[in-house]
Amino acid sequence: MTRTEARGTILIADFDFGDVDIERAIAEGAGFELLAAQCKSEDEVIEKGRDVDGVLTQYARVGSRAIDAFTRCRVIARYGTGVDIVDVAAATRRGIQVTNAPNEWCADEVADHAVALWLAAARKICVYDRATRQGTWRWQSGEPIWRLRGRVFGLLSFGFIARLIAERARVFGVEVWAHDPFLDESEIRSCQVRPVSFDELVEGADYLVIQAPLTPQTHHTFDRATFRRMKPTAILINTGRGPIVEDTAIYQALTEGWIAGAALDDLEEEPAKQRGWLPRSPLFTLPNVIVTPHAAYYSEQAIRTVRRFAAEEAVRVLTGQPARCPVNDVTAGSRP
Ligand SMILES: NC(=O)c1ccc[n+]([C@@H]2O[C@H](COP(=O)([O-])OP(=O)(O)OC[C@H]3O[C@@H](n4cnc5c(N)ncnc54)[C@H](O)[C@@H]3O)[C@@H](O)[C@H]2O)c1
Repeated sequence: MTRTEARGTILIADFDFGDVDIERAIAEGAGFELLAAQCKSEDEVIEKGRDVDGVLTQYARVGSRAIDAFTRCRVIARYGTGVDIVDVAAATRRGIQVTNAPNEWCADEVADHAVALWLAAARKICVYDRATRQGTWRWQSGEPIWRLRGRVFGLLSFGFIARLIAERARVFGVEVWAHDPFLDESEIRSCQVRPVSFDELVEGADYLVIQAPLTPQTHHTFDRATFRRMKPTAILINTGRGPIVEDTAIYQALTEGWIAGAALDDLEEEPAKQRGWLPRSPLFTLPNVIVTPHAAYYSEQAIRTVRRFAAEEAVRVLTGQPARCPVNDVTAGSRP
């Protein structure tokens, strides 16, 4: 389809799922041209997206500079739940609808992954696996391992995914605590979870799962001062966003015994947003860290769902229908 024939252009700013067949079928089926790019910086988003009508983005940042440079854009659809890579306030100002995917698209996957990371770290699965491959057949390779039952399993946030994690964790006999400053304590209690302050969570958790969104308030929540207050036997699991944890601080915490272990589904440097990333972080040298490549959301079903959803949201907005998952209210903004 050429640009002149099309109703407009939808840009995929970046993607890592191999092809864009799902999006192409939806966009072209509705009469739009689809452009697929691999932007790794906001300047690249500006270059590719200046004159497009809609943008889908996976990891590429669509900040206020890009939003101000757009001449026609009416929708920014995020492949996923978190919208920390989009300057939502700038989009609202310019009357651009931002959409995300409903929590359900990958909530089970993330909850499963959080529990898998927790169990792998607590039961020292990766430590044992490395040891047996090197010819060491001794239970002592994993010492010490503590019984899960009766220990405190803490959640930072008690949103959609955290609730699913709580359900799963309870089966192991742990006491589940959660800190969420935006929820009524009664709502947390009604799920048989103990609402606690941030201080109680940090100081009392044996296992602490970060499932809060990345916001200016949560950025670097886990810095040296926070790690200093955790139990030396604690294990931190991050299935939220990398920058909630300060990498130099967690490295110090793990090497100096302020905490016992960590299982991270992302790093502060967010490798997915970089071109030619290499594992230079000293965290990769530590035996008490497990790292997965921001894969918590992944299942074949989840990926297909989110791709379809984002493309459909862009088409809906561009054809005058309301978004199913709007992040902002654009009635007050001025359209570019
Ligand atoms: N690793 C992955 O693959 C993956 C996949 C999906 C989502 N996520 C992350 O998980 C986050 C949560 O997802 P969700 O679907 O549960 O979202 P949600 O909107 O249902 O819940 C978010 C919760 O976080 C709480 N919250 C906000 N600020 C907080 C703070 N400072 N401290 C504690 N709690 C705070 C909110 O009150 C809310 O209850 C997303 O924002 C995203 O960053 C990661």
